[in-house]
Amino acid sequence: MSVATLFTTSFRPEMAGLVLTVNGETRSIDAAPGAVLLDILRDDLELTGAKEACGRGECGACTVLVGGRSVLSCVTLAAVVNEPVETVEGLVSESLPLREAMADLGGFQCGYCTAGMVVRATELLRAGLPKDDDALAHAMAGNLCRCTGYRAILAAVRRVGQP
Ligand code: FES
Ligand code: FES
Repeated sequence: MSVATLFTTSFRPEMAGLVLTVNGETRSIDAAPGAVLLDILRDDLELTGAKEACGRGECGACTVLVGGRSVLSCVTLAAVVNEPVETVEGLVSESLPLREAMADLGGFQCGYCTAGMVVRATELLRAGLPKDDDALAHAMAGNLCRCTGYRAILAAVRRVGQP
């Protein structure tokens, strides 16, 4: 359970019914009212691709798509999510070229940031990448990586977006 959920549920322990559409499937979950989306995905739905690293909205490891837009699931209350959620598990086919490019170019090492990077990059690839490399780096700047130095990740995204 994330720090955010612990904090927000400690005074309101009652459970509430929650209906979420995740990766195309509608799921009903009994959740504490203050539960964050990351905990619902990981603990209730066993979708463990999104990671908790900072747990406070600073690193992007927990990135998922809600209504097609990247959100930080560690600081998003599950109860307010009312659009379809896509996790990295739901992007397996779509993200294959990107994951291959990242493997090819050394775009991951420990892999802790990778799911969040793939999700964020998928959003950008769907919209069409910025032409300018600085703009691409800026668009990916909410996702931190302590291992790779970013260059290989950005090169992989660019390779897929502009073959
Ligand atoms: S774990 Fe969510 S932003 Fe770091
Ligand atoms: S590959 Fe280790 S944090 Fe990015």
